[in-house]
Amino acid sequence: MKIAVLPGDGIGPEIVAEAVKVLEVLGLGLEMESAPVGGAAYEAAGHPLPEATLKLARESDAILFGAVGDWKYDTLDRPLRPEQAILGLRKALGLFANFRPAICYEQLVGASSLKPELVAGLDILIIRELTGDIYFGQPRGRRTAEDGPFPGSEEAFDTMRYSRPEIERIARVAFEAARKRNKKVTSVDKANVLETFQFWKDVVTEVHKDYPDVQLEHMYVDNAAMQLVKAPKAFDVIVTGNMFGDILSDEASMLTGSIGMLPSASLNDRKQGLYEPSHGSAPDIAGKGVANPLATILSAAMMLRFSLGQAEAADRIEAAVKAVLAQGLRTPDIWSEGTTKVGTQQMGDAVVNALR
Ligand code: NAD
Ligand code: IPM
Ligand code: MN
Repeated sequence: MKIAVLPGDGIGPEIVAEAVKVLEVLGLGLEMESAPVGGAAYEAAGHPLPEATLKLARESDAILFGAVGDWKYDTLDRPLRPEQAILGLRKALGLFANFRPAICYEQLVGASSLKPELVAGLDILIIRELTGDIYFGQPRGRRTAEDGPFPGSEEAFDTMRYSRPEIERIARVAFEAARKRNKKVTSVDKANVLETFQFWKDVVTEVHKDYPDVQLEHMYVDNAAMQLVKAPKAFDVIVTGNMFGDILSDEASMLTGSIGMLPSASLNDRKQGLYEPSHGSAPDIAGKGVANPLATILSAAMMLRFSLGQAEAADRIEAAVKAVLAQGLRTPDIWSEGTTKVGTQQMGDAVVNALR
């Protein structure tokens, strides 16, 4: 089994190193090969997603990804920006189904920004469509306005679009996932305003006919953002488009204690997957050795389960993470009174020790 390891920028290399340590101690004989991606690849090869990196990703059974991006690249032409690497990988490999589980571990109930009773026992799954929507819709760009409130002035535009097959396949993924959980899907849309999301709602409703054992509810995205902090445990599986899913998953991360706790899996129809924390490269804390590696370590567990057929090893990693939290070890983002503050490497070492 071959894994492409793409650390990227900022805290990416720090957190991926910890996940690699954890994978190595399992002794599964995984073949891991690293390649530059994002800003690091731009520096090394003049492109955020070099041919060789894409080739390695294509040839691998799974990809372990850190994060890309830094403020210093924000003025580059868009195709050269680090973020194009992750968008390019998702598109090139057809990774349309993004799983972002928001689980509040018992030990971290106090680290959440919500009251303990609202998050204790929380286990929700956000399923974000990942290769369509306004992220990839064409046309997009800048031009001189021909109409609108200021004709003749400069304007910018993007295109929000979804095709029926794109919605059907992500809806099926959500209903299938709900079947293995609490059998409830909340489809999040903006059908009251956007044609794209009225269509989304209609298609999800049609697909639901094949899943009568699963409860389907529809919710507008603004309400969903509110309900997520009002009564998050009322959700089971949330399915939504690329942009709403991006925003709601960051919001949901705080229910678990920190964005440093939220893993993700991005899958295509061949079960090949890219595994990355839901957070970014965190330039504000990069190089300080304080980033929380648990989201990345938990993403590695998802990789073992979804792409490598190693469910038992995945269970072991998740149990080790819980054990380390039970020992009271905390990176600064999840630290609270009475617990022990540790750095990125110490946290990774503790998970490795718990696995031994
Ligand atoms: P971010 O997720 O990188 O950081 C947001 C905040 O969360 C920061 O205060 C950061 O310190 C904190 N944080 C994030 N991960 C953490 C961790 N593991 N442990 C502790 N604290 C953590 O989002 P941002 O600041 O908006 O973006 C920074 C860069 O990352 C941008 O260039 C953005 O485009 C990029 N980004 C990349 C990805 C990706 O590679 N998939 C995802 C999101 C953002
Ligand atoms: C994420 C990130 C990416 C996204 C960016 C970096 C392109 O925010 O993975 O959540 O918007 O999908
Ligand atoms: Mn995001």
